[in-house]
Amino acid sequence: MSNLSTTESAAEAVDGVRELWRSDGLALRGKSLLSMRDLSRDQLMGLLDTARALQAASAARTPSLLFSYPAALALIFEKPSLRTRVTFDLGMQQLGGHTVVLGPAEIGLGTRETVPDTARNLERWVSAIMARVFSHHALVELRDNCGIPIINGLSDLEHPCQALADLYAIRQRFGGFDGLKIAYIGDGNNVLHSLMLGAAMCGMCIAAACPRGYEPHESIVQAAQELAARPEAVAITSAPLEAAAGAHVVYTDVWTSMGQEKEQLARLQAFRSFQVNARVMAAAHAEAVFMHCLPAHRSDEVTDDVMDGPQSIVFDQAEARLHAQKAVLAMLIGPNG
Ligand code: CP
Ligand code: NVA
Repeated sequence: MSNLSTTESAAEAVDGVRELWRSDGLALRGKSLLSMRDLSRDQLMGLLDTARALQAASAARTPSLLFSYPAALALIFEKPSLRTRVTFDLGMQQLGGHTVVLGPAEIGLGTRETVPDTARNLERWVSAIMARVFSHHALVELRDNCGIPIINGLSDLEHPCQALADLYAIRQRFGGFDGLKIAYIGDGNNVLHSLMLGAAMCGMCIAAACPRGYEPHESIVQAAQELAARPEAVAITSAPLEAAAGAHVVYTDVWTSMGQEKEQLARLQAFRSFQVNARVMAAAHAEAVFMHCLPAHRSDEVTDDVMDGPQSIVFDQAEARLHAQKAVLAMLIGPNG
């Protein structure tokens, strides 16, 4: 990503983060992040600004340590992960905290013991929990049964940390959000739900093209329309080229999400004409970027020429996970860990 900073301004940026952190200036201390709806517009912008300051500090090799022992983050994974696993683990360490990674075989969330009991144990040892779960309800149960922040690292309903990183990457690329249109082409899934809410909060237009029967949840579309300046700013269609027309961002995700493997064949059929390829990119704005939360299934939802082409910013997005999540960790976990 661009915008390397001088050591001096990086130090000032870290001082600014430290002050915001000490004063709980975003009023996020102790809160959970299960959905984009857990954030106000100001909190969202404050997190993006914090992420920018933390990125500047990293680029200038200026330490941004906030936490001291015993601040620790538990990372619970019911599903595989590369980006979420690495960026939360490193992000917490870069802020001076510790991490404990718990895979599916280790804790058996809801099977070896109940979700509330897991929460009540963990809060005795750690400052916050990031969890990647099958059912969003497990996150709600964790949150409702302990006093520490719960962070959604992907559920069947939302992927808010991904959306924060996406919004950060978009703002870095375009310098702001005004007048931008996102075209999302593919499955009406967790990634789209959070992106749609976030885009609406930032004042962007979003048009999602999904096959019939694979649209986003109606309640989330409605919530996004309520958050948007104008309800028409959030539109659902079944025509990819219509969604892509004039878009500044063309976004896609896998057609079969983790946990839906049994539906894979039916989904391949249903999504065949929803591939992001050169034809779709040609319908977008001349300066459009291509985005994907990754992992990508090349030749399904995206072709190699788009994924590896000059418009692709998918690895900027991946990098942005680190900066955005450090901002989340900093603002949710306080000085007393
Ligand atoms: N985008 C994302 O969440 O990647 P992982 O599944 O690798 O964590
Ligand atoms: N929709 C995908 C996102 C992976 C990061 C899934 O849930 O598997």
